[in-house]
Amino acid sequence: MEAHEKGYFTEENSIEVVTGRNAKARDERLKSIMEVVTRKLHEAVKEIEPSEKEWFDAIMFLTDTGHMCNEWRQEFILLSDVLGVSMLVDAINNRKPSGASESTVLGPFHVADAPVRHMGDNICLDHKGEDMVVSGRILDTEGNPIDEAVIDVWQANDEGFYDVQQKGIQPDFNLRGVFRTGRDGRYWFRAVKPKYYPIPDDGPVGKMLSALGRHPHRPAHLHYIIKADGFETLTTHIFDPDDPYIDSDAVFGVKESLLAEFRRTEDAARAKEYDFKQAWFWEVEHDFVLAREA
Ligand code: BEZ
Ligand code: FE
Repeated sequence: MEAHEKGYFTEENSIEVVTGRNAKARDERLKSIMEVVTRKLHEAVKEIEPSEKEWFDAIMFLTDTGHMCNEWRQEFILLSDVLGVSMLVDAINNRKPSGASESTVLGPFHVADAPVRHMGDNICLDHKGEDMVVSGRILDTEGNPIDEAVIDVWQANDEGFYDVQQKGIQPDFNLRGVFRTGRDGRYWFRAVKPKYYPIPDDGPVGKMLSALGRHPHRPAHLHYIIKADGFETLTTHIFDPDDPYIDSDAVFGVKESLLAEFRRTEDAARAKEYDFKQAWFWEVEHDFVLAREA
C-alpha cells in the first residue's frame, strides 16, 4: 500500500492524501470542486514556499477581510473583484450570442427598490453637476425593438459618490431610476455626467492594492440592469472612453463594446427644453441588445 493510500502525509503526496480523504463525499460537485481547489492551492504553496510568518500574514489578511464585512460592506466580493474573479465568473455565466450586448459586474451599490420614473425624467435630484441626456433603444438580436423592457439605472454623481455612500448629503434615490420602454423600445432620461471613483479602499483590499502599486479607481460609468419577458437579464455598464482610468479599471469591468460616446453638445434651445442650467450638455446614446432566453 502506498503512503497516500494509508493517509500518511508527505510533501510529495500532499494532494493525493487530502483529496483521497474526500472519497466518500455525498455531493459529487463538491467533491470535484474540492479536488481542483486543493490541487491548485497545494501547487501554489509548493511554488511559493511561504515562510510560516508569510502564511500567518495571509491568514490574518483573510481574517481582516472577514471582519470588514457587514450588512453594507462585502470585502470578500471586493477581493474577488480586484482579483478579476468576479469578471471571470460573469464571463462564464453570461456567454452571449453574437450581436447581444455584453455584461459586466453588478457592484455593491445597486438598490433593489429604486423609484419607477417616466421617460425623460431627471434622475439627478439635487441638480449638482454637468447636465446629461442619455438615450437609446432596447433591441433583440434581429434589431427589433423590445416592448415593456424594464431598465434599472444607477450612477455616481459628479464627485464620484453614490447616494447610499452619502446619506444625508445626497437625496435618497439620487441618480437612480427604473424605466419601462414602449413599443418603440426607446428609453431616455436626464442625469449628470458621472465621475470616476475609488472602490471602497479603507480596508484590507485597499491596503493590498496600494502594496501592489495599484490605484483603486473605476472609470466613470452608468450601471444598467435590463429585463424583458423572454429575454436573458442583462447586467451591464456604459463607460466614458475619455476617462483617465478607462484602461485600468480596478475591477476589470471595462469591455470595448461598452464604451459609449459622451458628446458635449452646445444647443441652447434643446438645453432650455430639457430645463438644463447651461446652454450646453452632455449627450450619450447607447442601444442595448438582449439575448433570447434559451
Ligand atoms: C461599482 O461599479 O459600483 C463597483 C463595482 C465593483 C466594486 C466596487 C464598486
Ligand atoms: Fe459603479
